[in-house]
Amino acid sequence: MGWFSKDITNMDDLFVHTLRDIYYAEHQIRRALPDMIDKATSPELKQSFQTHMRETEQQIVRLQEVFRLHGVEEKGVNCPAIDGILEEANEVAGEVDDKQVLDAALIAAAQSVEHYEITRYGTLKRWAEVLGTAKVAELIKASLQEESQTDEILTRIAARANETERESVAT
Ligand SMILES: [Fe+2]
Repeated sequence: MGWFSKDITNMDDLFVHTLRDIYYAEHQIRRALPDMIDKATSPELKQSFQTHMRETEQQIVRLQEVFRLHGVEEKGVNCPAIDGILEEANEVAGEVDDKQVLDAALIAAAQSVEHYEITRYGTLKRWAEVLGTAKVAELIKASLQEESQTDEILTRIAARANETERESVAT
């Protein structure tokens, strides 16, 4: 179901639809992470994916709590955007042999996932402040903060990898 479906007639419908969109996305990300952990070469990157997998599980639980508090059925709706991002990540990672380049591709893919989630949670947080309870807004905010933090960690790992690469080129 797309955003311009006839089933969405008011802001609350849109809020619930977007909750279901990110709920689906979180499940897809949870399914994709073990493979990313497997492929990552840098121990630091592996570790950050492992941490984020645990956070993703927690984010799924938070969304279940949001559905409960908002009084709507807990379910996902297809989200072609996250499917596309993950599919592209898979294709790119599958084609790279060089370990350092593979890590760079994985970081880039993970950051596009994070940015998708940041936009969804950012929107949901603003809508929740109007349509939901304070507790709902608080739960969404907690996940938004985790996603932003993960994005920053990935930026730092990428910067360090670039440094190492520059040093190895210079010597
Ligand atoms: Fe997430």
